Amino acid sequence: MQLSSRITSMQESPIRKLVPYATKAKAEGKKVFHLNIGQPDIETPKSFMESIRNFDQKVIAYSFSEGLPELIEAMIDYYKKYDMHYEKDEIIITNGGSEALLFSVIATMDHGDEVLVPEPFYTNYNGFTSAVDVKVSPITTSAEDGFHLPNRETIEELIKPKTKAIMLSNPGNPTGVVYTKEEVEMLSSLAKEYNLFIIADEVYREFVYDGLEFTSFGNMKDIQDRVIIVDSVSKRYSACGARIGSVASKNKELIAQILKLAQGRLCVATLEQVGATALYKTDQSYFKNVNKEYDRRRNIMMEALNNMPGVFCKSPTGAFYVNAKLPVDDAEKFVTWLLQEFELDGDTVMLAPAEGFYSTPGLGKDEARIAYVLKEDDLKRAMEVLKAGLEHYPGKTV
Ligand SMILES: Cc1ncc(COP(=O)(O)O)c(C=O)c1O
Repeated sequence: MQLSSRITSMQESPIRKLVPYATKAKAEGKKVFHLNIGQPDIETPKSFMESIRNFDQKVIAYSFSEGLPELIEAMIDYYKKYDMHYEKDEIIITNGGSEALLFSVIATMDHGDEVLVPEPFYTNYNGFTSAVDVKVSPITTSAEDGFHLPNRETIEELIKPKTKAIMLSNPGNPTGVVYTKEEVEMLSSLAKEYNLFIIADEVYREFVYDGLEFTSFGNMKDIQDRVIIVDSVSKRYSACGARIGSVASKNKELIAQILKLAQGRLCVATLEQVGATALYKTDQSYFKNVNKEYDRRRNIMMEALNNMPGVFCKSPTGAFYVNAKLPVDDAEKFVTWLLQEFELDGDTVMLAPAEGFYSTPGLGKDEARIAYVLKEDDLKRAMEVLKAGLEHYPGKTV
């Protein structure tokens, strides 16, 4: 028997594949600071648990395939705060942003089609596209340019007859880039001219720093029939384990088609939808406080990285990641070495090697994504450990 080439050619998650080394390091008594995964340690708003505790039905029944009506209503109100206006039949609740991405890819592209994605990109875009035989066509961006987009002509050259969509995360994971209004407008006008969908993954919408203004693809009024907004409570409300995401689009036909996929998996967990309904009613002031915390962490991390010889990255302006160039021969080898061989007084650190965030072969080999999701003291210590690791690594290049 033979497994499908679709599944065997799918890449392993670069974020998770080194986890067994971390598990072993912990079993050996080392403390591992996890900067490799976007799992925030910020407390989930209490309203989540409270609403679940107050759930008084006798049966945990299936929910509607499109999602709990109260949650959809709460999301409609949430979007209004961003001048995005959806109706009930324009939103479907999904199992995390992950399922929303997969559904969006399936609904907009056929076998052999292509999707333009600025690289480096959220690694699971590779997984979701390759699982359904869609090819990623990368728009390469660089640390030197702060991972902003190249000009319109460069992107235009990448558009082929098979190109059906542009998919991107804004703010960016792993780059922390926040695309300017001009960039969002440029992609929107390309989408219109070349008849492309835009799958806008905006799960980090609120995580924007330095007073920058966030422009959503949901605000590009004249292309709303081709915009799909992917969202999630995972990062927004620090509720990764709730597994609640969504797709939203003014294209009712597209949503009706995605509903068929949603019907196939019956529904999203009922109780978590109850909790997520409460989350989406959280006052916007919550984000101000959370952002202050991430901003502080970002500054601690950047100050430390700037003091490490050979490390290069511009200060990210969104999400909670930085994609840094490291003075090492191979970032994956470096992270494996950190976990297997290195310790600083019993401590080590884990990063996400960045090669898997690129689809152009060879790019990102000396880069790693660092998530600033730890409390100040832990982050400071993690940076000390990283600095010492870079000094002692046998494959260092400076
Ligand atoms: C850009 C981006 N999109 C989507 C997701 C998926 O999130 P979830 O499935 O937890 O909602 C993540 C998770 O890290 C992400 O970083």
